[in-house]
Amino acid sequence: PNFDLVVINATVVTASDISKCCIGVKDGKIHSLVNSFTDDELAGTEIIDAEGAYVMPGGVDAHVHLCQDLKTGPHGLGGECSDNFETGSRSAVAGGTTTIITFATQTRAEEDRSLLKVAERYNARAEETGSYADYGFHIIIVRNDADILENELPVLINDWGISSCKLFLTYETQRLTDSQMLDVMFAARKNSITTMIHAENGDMIEWLTEKLESKGMVAPYYHALSRPPIVEGEATNRAIALAQLIQNPILFVHVGSVLGAANVRRAQTMGLPVYAETCPQYFHLTWDDLKRFHSPTCFENSKMICSPPPPPTAADHEELFVGLSNGTFTIYSSDHCPFRYDHPHGKPSGVLEHEESMAGEKPCSGNEPHGEELQDLLQRKGGAFRFIPNGIPGVETRLPLLYTGALASGRITPQRFVELTSTNPAKLYGLYPKKGALMPGSDADFVIWHPEKTFSPFNLTNSMLHHNVDYTPYEGMRFENWPRYTILRGKVMWANGKIIGKVRDGEYVKRGPSQLGPVSPSAHRDTRRVANWLYE
Ligand code: URP
Ligand code: ZN
Ligand code: ZN
Ligand code: ZN
Repeated sequence: PNFDLVVINATVVTASDISKCCIGVKDGKIHSLVNSFTDDELAGTEIIDAEGAYVMPGGVDAHVHLCQDLKTGPHGLGGECSDNFETGSRSAVAGGTTTIITFATQTRAEEDRSLLKVAERYNARAEETGSYADYGFHIIIVRNDADILENELPVLINDWGISSCKLFLTYETQRLTDSQMLDVMFAARKNSITTMIHAENGDMIEWLTEKLESKGMVAPYYHALSRPPIVEGEATNRAIALAQLIQNPILFVHVGSVLGAANVRRAQTMGLPVYAETCPQYFHLTWDDLKRFHSPTCFENSKMICSPPPPPTAADHEELFVGLSNGTFTIYSSDHCPFRYDHPHGKPSGVLEHEESMAGEKPCSGNEPHGEELQDLLQRKGGAFRFIPNGIPGVETRLPLLYTGALASGRITPQRFVELTSTNPAKLYGLYPKKGALMPGSDADFVIWHPEKTFSPFNLTNSMLHHNVDYTPYEGMRFENWPRYTILRGKVMWANGKIIGKVRDGEYVKRGPSQLGPVSPSAHRDTRRVANWLYE
């Protein structure tokens, strides 16, 4: 056949194998994987010489926040995502990611009851700019309206191909009570919609936050102290119990503590269908990064605030790396949640009404604010950690950080790298084998790395990145490799440091139910007994 593109001298890595071969692409799909092509086959075809480097299925980033505005922000704390589908997906392809799953967010407002309208609204935002990457949506559900769950979930999965929802145990404007959780999980289970859970105990956080504020401890660092590991520990255990009660598979998003990972591991050992996502920030940042800049009380430390926070120490990183290699963690996503530092709706200002950002304002003295200064921060709703939008950018650095931190350092195999970043997210969210695979018939989505022998490690600066965020938490970090080419359905989107693709090259992808077994926890006897009558 006449190929549209061939990749030669590839070290092809899949979730199961590594092999030296060549890839032929036709009509946006992988046509063949062979030892070599004949001169005839290569004549007139675009050829990419991988020079022996790793060629992997394109990254699937299943946790990306784009276009979440002040009203419907990612967590109701104010703040406005600074990346839309254009800038966010541009950043994705520059970092080797070809598919992103973003969040379409319901709010408690009466006009937001309809999940279908929420999906329409977010889809319009994507269509407004277009996307460099293929994209889909998770639906965030913050209410338990029986009619909506019954009538709309089937339409969401059948017509929209939205096969996953995210539920919260924290954030005043998002959190569900235990019984509301059961309502939504039950409806999700009946419709084969995967339930993603943000597991932090909201009451613990609120209680600790009030105690910290009463002592003037409002600087960014104290965000971490308001969310010690037991906050995730309690919430993961509770959600596991709720899910077990009604035989519902769950995925914990952004697990960031050794305790949370241990709870997941224990549930998996029991035979429960419990999956976990983790993110780069839990392997590269610690509590100390929340007092990295100038003085511990400087607003600039708000750049590092995310929930759950990074773990306390580097010793935690090592334990979390074990979870990456032994299967406790199913997927590795970015949780890209972009806020600008110097912007009134970014960090550290969040919801300030005036036009000015608080960036660069006091306090940077190294002293805790007290008295009038403290009251001012709390009343202006800026600067104090309670009001700082949670989330950090990272859609572009996700794969390179895992390459440097885990693959190049020998902590995980290349196959496991592919499983965590592409194959498992594709399976978990019903995209496989269109995405997440390098086999004939799959979409021709690849990331081609640099040959290790010839790549010179470099130190990252934010100016090298393609997001619309004015900082990266990984400024100055040394990287051992970076995607050399990113190819989406046979189109070169990124090559040798340049964006080549077009903003309308990305397409909306409809997803099916999760393909990651077991869909029902048949391995667990007690659970089976409950489920038998419940779902009849
Ligand atoms: O801090 C974070 N992770 N912000 C994004 C919102 C969320 O909960 O994922
Ligand atoms: Zn979350
Ligand atoms: Zn400062
Ligand atoms: Zn998130």
